[in-house]
Amino acid sequence: MKRESIQVGWKWLDLKDKSGWEIPDGPVMSLVYSLGQDPEIKVYDLGCGIGRHTVFFAAQGYDVYASDIAEEAVQATNTWLGKVGLTANVKQGRMTEIDHPDNTFDLVVSYNVIYHAMKDDIFKVISEVFRVLKPGGMFYGTLITKDKGTPFRMQDNLILDDQTLVVKGGVEDGIPHFFSYIDDVLEFFKDFNIESLVYDEVFSAPFDIDNLLAQKGSGHFRFLVKKPIGN
Ligand SMILES: C[S@@+](CC[C@H](N)C(=O)[O-])C[C@H]1O[C@@H](n2cnc3c(N)ncnc32)[C@H](O)[C@@H]1O
Repeated sequence: MKRESIQVGWKWLDLKDKSGWEIPDGPVMSLVYSLGQDPEIKVYDLGCGIGRHTVFFAAQGYDVYASDIAEEAVQATNTWLGKVGLTANVKQGRMTEIDHPDNTFDLVVSYNVIYHAMKDDIFKVISEVFRVLKPGGMFYGTLITKDKGTPFRMQDNLILDDQTLVVKGGVEDGIPHFFSYIDDVLEFFKDFNIESLVYDEVFSAPFDIDNLLAQKGSGHFRFLVKKPIGN
């Protein structure tokens, strides 16, 4: 069913402990081995949050661009860049419209971002990423899973359909979450070459074995896809 677009940013100012969002993700960092060491390399951090990957890629000497719908995220990223003497072009914007010409970027990273939307909007985001990637360019990101691991959190959330909910309260108040089946992932990336697709689960403390076995972790697909050469 077609639904109205809902695009809402994280309320970063309400998040007391941001430490989990300050260290870049390991697999994201390892992408530098595929990219090489050229200052001409262009990287886009889509939904940059408070900037951990923007700062990391700027520190590699790349030409870095970033955006987030939340003004407070843009400010925090610029503040962090300023503190460490690095530069990147960071703008406020919705992920469904990427304000750059076709065939611009060698890498787009969007970690824990693109599922914050209705399914139709996720298709828009992915076609925008396809458009702005150079042929052979990489797109790395995550999606949350429906068919494994992740509890489809009921609590007070507003359930829109079998795969979509809108969170009520907290830093994600008003933000949609789309939970993907593997078939959705294959459909999303039908125009790309899928280089790797990994499933992982994040568990919550306490980290004793009884607790871990009793939990269903927060399950994500991590994807690395490439725009085919010749497009
Ligand atoms: C879980 S945080 C991840 C931040 C960052 N990618 C990281 O890994 O640290 C999700 C981010 O996506 C942003 N976001 C949510 N919906 C968005 C949209 N429609 N357009 C752009 N950014 C969005 C939020 O404001 C938030 O900063």
